[in-house]
Amino acid sequence: RGKRAFIAGIADDNGYGWAIAKALAAAGAEILVGTWVPALNIFETSLRRGKFDESRRLPNGSLMEIIKVYPLDAVYDTPEDVPDDVRTNKRYSGTSSWTVKEVAESVKNDFGSIDILVHSLANGPEVTKPLLETSRKGYLAAISASSYSFVSLLKHFLPIMNPGGASISLTYIASERTIPGYGGGMSSAKAALESDTKVLAFEAGRKGKIRVNTISAGPLGSRAAKAIGFIEKMIEYSYANAPLQKELLADEVGNTAAFLVSPLASAITGSVVYADNGLNTMGLAT
Ligand code: NAI
Repeated sequence: RGKRAFIAGIADDNGYGWAIAKALAAAGAEILVGTWVPALNIFETSLRRGKFDESRRLPNGSLMEIIKVYPLDAVYDTPEDVPDDVRTNKRYSGTSSWTVKEVAESVKNDFGSIDILVHSLANGPEVTKPLLETSRKGYLAAISASSYSFVSLLKHFLPIMNPGGASISLTYIASERTIPGYGGGMSSAKAALESDTKVLAFEAGRKGKIRVNTISAGPLGSRAAKAIGFIEKMIEYSYANAPLQKELLADEVGNTAAFLVSPLASAITGSVVYADNGLNTMGLAT
């Protein structure tokens, strides 16, 4: 049997989640997707209408099959955590069972188990504000959506992950070096995610023989990145200053993820792996 992957954080064909899904599908994995509830409708409609068919094409010519799309809001762990204004909001009230615990239960009921868990989501409502101007609420929201969401996903999916399986998340160098403009506590959230990668690698390794790694990816003009506002500048900066002066393709990060969750990486856990054309190694702009 091929491996089964659950990928949280796909809502279009531009981001890292989509590229990871494709790389895993190309390697023979079955693809399940978790899509943010407010983005679910448009994503499913676009899929159904064939809007993504061009970008679903795999190297062997076939089209990536997404077996099932689950609505997900990784900011909520159980139905009891959902505030009334969210529950009754019309973007949410049309679907159900989208808290992390419920999604894990649904996947268990539908498929029994998974082998691969991918976290490719982040959100920071105040990302455009400097840290000094970030509110407590905005900071905690960034950590909740971008860091704890991984703890929660791993916690709830671990019991249905087959031993030898692996999980992966996406991080950014702003966790360790100052990137002015990556604000709202998002740099803090990535630092937490990277530290948690080590602790969770230990805990999930001992508990379920599951590996946990994170990819520190270079800049990509995804939907989320465009909301930050300076992504084009970051892409140009990377092109000008990285050891490898080439465009960074989402597929390159997808391939890195496919390697890290495969048996080829069976001794790698708790690591931050850079897929950034080497930009992180530079100490001086050129
Ligand atoms: P993206 O827009 O394709 O992915 C972010 C996804 O998160 C979206 O699908 C969005 O709907 C989803 N999301 C937001 N809040 C959610 C919630 N509460 N529950 C469930 N889903 C939620 O953008 P991108 O850039 O591909 O982001 C994927 C990951 O890559 C993120 O962790 C991001 O921080 C990371 N990353 C991105 C870089 C870039 O330059 N684009 C660089 C380094 C890391």
